[in-house]
Amino acid sequence: MSIESEKDLIGLLRIGRIVGLTLQKMTASLRSGITTGELDAIGAELLRKEGARSAPILTYNFPGATCISINDEAAHGIPGSRVIQTGDLVNIDVSAELDGYFADTGATVPMLPVEPLKQKLADCTRSALEKGLTAARAGNRIYDIGRTMENEVRRCGFHIIRDLPGHGVGRKLHEPPSVPGFFNKRANDILKEGLVITIEPFVSTRASHIVTAADGWTLKTPDGSLVAQYEHTVVITKDRPILVTAV
Ligand code: CO
Ligand code: CO
Repeated sequence: MSIESEKDLIGLLRIGRIVGLTLQKMTASLRSGITTGELDAIGAELLRKEGARSAPILTYNFPGATCISINDEAAHGIPGSRVIQTGDLVNIDVSAELDGYFADTGATVPMLPVEPLKQKLADCTRSALEKGLTAARAGNRIYDIGRTMENEVRRCGFHIIRDLPGHGVGRKLHEPPSVPGFFNKRANDILKEGLVITIEPFVSTRASHIVTAADGWTLKTPDGSLVAQYEHTVVITKDRPILVTAV
């Protein structure tokens, strides 16, 4: 969506804060021994208390309020009986709706102590998102975001997962335009003030693509290589974007 009014901005910021707080509470609840199902229940309860509805359930009838993806899983991991352990690289992705507005955020947390490669991957992915944010301003093209993130990821010696782009968001969970994490010359639309998109680099130690696991939902690397992702929903302005999901 594009922000057309004060009401749009207020509605979007409200759900942005709720998903941001939910992600924060879930990451703060991470400990060795907790199951992904228990962690999801913590997020589901906070969304419910705030009057928000899980976007994956609403949009895709996903079997969980949030997505929790571990190690070689990139996205759409189903919460359940899996036990999170020290050494795991845990991605939590939270998206939800309130009053017709949607926001989407994610983060990857290394369960300390972890092997240095996992820490480096998480750090590089966070820094790719930060670099991407600097390219996300009115007048630039969509591919400037991906180009900036891809350069950072290459500098680290890692790879962008090319089939998992950011996206428009706001009135639905997934809207046009697609926001590739790499330089894709076809993503040449000019960014306009008020446009609402996610920026979400998926970064892998080796893989550039994902496959769907046997459960029909989980997206993972074909070769077992690790993945991290960070995500914010942002509003494009002439200057730095408004971080809708930062808390
Ligand atoms: Co997300
Ligand atoms: Co997203």
